[in-house]
Formats: sequence, C-alpha cells, structure tokens
Amino acid sequence: MLAKRGRIGDCFSKDERIVVFPGDCLELLRTCPDETFRLIVTSPPYNIGKEYEKKLELDSYLSQQAEVIRECVRCLSPRGSICWQVGNYVDGGAIIPLDTVLYPIFRELGLSMRNRIIWHFEHGLHCSRRFSGRYETISWFTKSDDYVFNLDPVRVPQKYPGKKYFKGPKAGQFSCNPLGKNPGDLWVIPNVKSNHVEKTEHPCQFPVELVERLVLSLAEEDDWVLDPFLGTGTTIVAAVRHGRRAAGAETVPKYVSLARERIEGELAGTLRTRPMHKPVYDPVEAGNSLTAAPWTAEGDTAQMVLLEKKRSYGRSGTP
Ligand SMILES: C[S@@+](CC[C@H](N)C(=O)[O-])C[C@H]1O[C@@H](n2cnc3c(N)ncnc32)[C@H](O)[C@@H]1O
Repeated sequence: MLAKRGRIGDCFSKDERIVVFPGDCLELLRTCPDETFRLIVTSPPYNIGKEYEKKLELDSYLSQQAEVIRECVRCLSPRGSICWQVGNYVDGGAIIPLDTVLYPIFRELGLSMRNRIIWHFEHGLHCSRRFSGRYETISWFTKSDDYVFNLDPVRVPQKYPGKKYFKGPKAGQFSCNPLGKNPGDLWVIPNVKSNHVEKTEHPCQFPVELVERLVLSLAEEDDWVLDPFLGTGTTIVAAVRHGRRAAGAETVPKYVSLARERIEGELAGTLRTRPMHKPVYDPVEAGNSLTAAPWTAEGDTAQMVLLEKKRSYGRSGTP
C-alpha cells in the first residue's frame, strides 16, 4: 500500500515518500535496494571537531567517507547524481580542501565529475593568519554519461534581458534565452548564520535554496533523493517542496527531532525559508545605518578610502 502523503517513515521502504532514519547512515544504506536514488546530496562532517563528530586522523576520516560513498554509489540510479558539499579540513593552521582528497574515491568508483561548484557566501570566521574562508564546494558526480539534467527550472535572470542581435539574419531579435541563463558554477547564496531565517541550533546547516537548485536540476518528480548526513532535514525539505521522495539518516537525536519538525512545517506550509532567487542583501543600498563606522564621522580613514569608487589605483603618483 502506498504511504499517505505527509507521513514520515523511520526506515526505508519504497512505499514511503519521506524517511527520516534515526541512526547511522551505513545502517540505512544497507537496507536500500541497488539503484534506488536519483540524487544523493549531502554535507558530511568535515572532521574539524564539531560537537557531532570525533576528530580523526585524515586517513581514518577518508576511509570512513569511502565506505559511505561506496554504498551511495551502489544505491545510485544509473542516470543519477551525487553532490558532496564540503569545506576545508584544518590541521595545525594548514588547510586541506576536502574535495581534493575525496575526489579520488569517487573516480575509483567509476563516477565522472560534471562540475565543481563554488558556493560563495559572506559570513564566517575571521582569520588572522590567512584570508578568511568565504567559499565551500559542491562536487557533482554522475554514474553514467546519460544523466538527468534539467536546466530550465534553475535558470537565473539574464544580466541584459533586453539585448538584441544587431546584425545578421536575427538582427532585431532578442539574443538571450527568455527563460533566463545557466546559473554557472559559482553560486552566491548566503550561508545559514545567526540572522538567517532558517537558522536552528545546528552549527552547520546548508540553506534550503542551495539544495533546491540541485533537486530541480538533477532529479525529477517522484524520484528518490537521499541525504546520508541529514542534520536538520534541509535536503528532505527541498525535495518534498518540489514533489520528490526523500530519505535521510541522522545519528544525533535532537537533530532528528529538528529534522522531523522542519519537514512537518514544510508539509504544513509554515516553514520559513529564504526564497530561491532572492538577491543577496546589500547593506549600503538598503541604507543600513551601521554601514558607516562611528570613528569615521570626523573624516576619512584608510578603511573609508577603500570604499571610494572613483579612486584610480593605476600608475604611482596619479590619483
Ligand atoms: C554537516 S552536518 C549536515 C547538516 C545538514 N546539511 C543540514 O542542513 O542541517 C552533518 C550531520 O551528519 C550527522 N552525522 C555524523 N555522522 C553520521 C552518520 N554516521 N550517520 C548519520 N548522520 C551522521 C551529524 O550529526 C550532523 O548533523
């Protein structure tokens, strides 16, 4: 019997539409048949000592990740995609970009990389001995060359929508796609920090709009989507919003409860999220009074000089 829309199951069955498994992702994966999921999207622990992880030697961490990735590949449908969203592992102040050390695992399992998406955001820790980290990556791999990829639902506004061909047989006609342009592989999407509408007590959620873009382009309606490291249920929220079926595993009970609450909120239409395509807030344009430092009231400082738009930094001696 097919499960009622709105029910949240706690173990995997193709009769469900939503599954939140309270436990280890490997246990969940071992109950899933081969080739089940059209899209697997996740942000795994980064091995940086967050409250939900035990910091391991890098090699042990990579072996653990390889075990999960191997099971994910078994459960991935032939036209399916895996999107692994990671940042840096930090070892005594030196960074190791995790996507670079995870890449060989995916390649050895026969997957092909389609994009290495840079997710850029403005907020995070301020570093004093290196430039502050303001991006993470999403490595997108497919199982075959015949993979689901729908661009139209994720197109973004053209920069010059009124632009026309000025010569040739199409002169006078609009030269760009009226549905919008390909969003490219640099995604500027605010991260979920304290004043983000989606913030919960989880220390590192990813935003729903980031996953929506992947769900809409890499899976179709009624396809199964999986997040093995579910956290607060963001992937399931994005999948359910667009009529996909979705499953995830989470080991920490308080995050399992949060995930269930957020999914129920989504089903009831009460979950607040940042809408896809909302422009990133520009505090100066918005007239925010906090954009001028009080200590600059008496005149320019070096910081204010940096904000002068017309200053030329060309040949020395010229203004
Ligand atoms: C980076 S967070 C993911 C956050 C998620 N993307 C969100 O938006 O809320 C990783 C999550 O994986 C969970 N986790 C760690 N090891 C796990 C395992 N073996 N199986 C399932 N979940 C695990 C952690 O408790 C944590 O909530």
